[in-house]
Amino acid sequence: MGMYADLILPQLVHCACSSRLITRERAQLVPQARGRVLEVGMGSGLNLAHYDPARVEHVWGLEPSEGMRRKAAPRLAASPVPVEWLALPGEQIPLPEDSVDTVMLTFTLCTIPDWQAALRQVRRVLRPEGRLLFCEHGAAPDATVRRWQNRVNPLWQRLAGGCQLNRPIDRLLEQGGFRLRRFEPGYLPRTPRIAGYVYRGEAETG
Ligand SMILES: C[S@@+](CC[C@H](N)C(=O)[O-])C[C@H]1O[C@@H](n2cnc3c(N)ncnc32)[C@H](O)[C@@H]1O
Repeated sequence: MGMYADLILPQLVHCACSSRLITRERAQLVPQARGRVLEVGMGSGLNLAHYDPARVEHVWGLEPSEGMRRKAAPRLAASPVPVEWLALPGEQIPLPEDSVDTVMLTFTLCTIPDWQAALRQVRRVLRPEGRLLFCEHGAAPDATVRRWQNRVNPLWQRLAGGCQLNRPIDRLLEQGGFRLRRFEPGYLPRTPRIAGYVYRGEAETG
């Protein structure tokens, strides 16, 4: 693996994902998790501090990047809930069927190359009454912003580890077999609009 992907990218992703605005999003979403939780693309572990230990039994942190897993070490050490790494991508979740109560997807669906395969895996492991909690950036509703997202995307994805600016996250979830129970999209304030349209909500298997 190159130095950029192994050392520089984890630092950049960690900084970008630690902003005050994104931390506020995490603080609203993550305490809703219950039971056995699977985080897909756990990154540097920035959600961990927000889990409620009275409600969360165990967190599996699926994360294919060794650099990101290394970057997460301090947050794993301070985690209020037990955490276990799964060093694989979302397309290969190594858990049995119906073994997860909550799937957490934060700023990850933008990056997973085969999102259809990953969502199939998520559906397989999520028990029928389970919930998928999500907060993801993606395609903006305004045509001008979307045009810029499409223009910038080729360069952006090369610099940002495969992250796509222009995925319509709600449609991806629906095509992946999920029904949106709650959906609250909107622009983050004081954030460039090409990366600041956030899809927040809760989904269940349809
Ligand atoms: C922008 S970061 C977000 C990390 C974390 N979810 C958060 O909220 O801070 C995207 C993460 O997705 C991970 N990733 C890349 N390809 C993936 C894949 N195929 N399956 C799962 N995660 C992947 C990256 O390594 C990175 O840690």
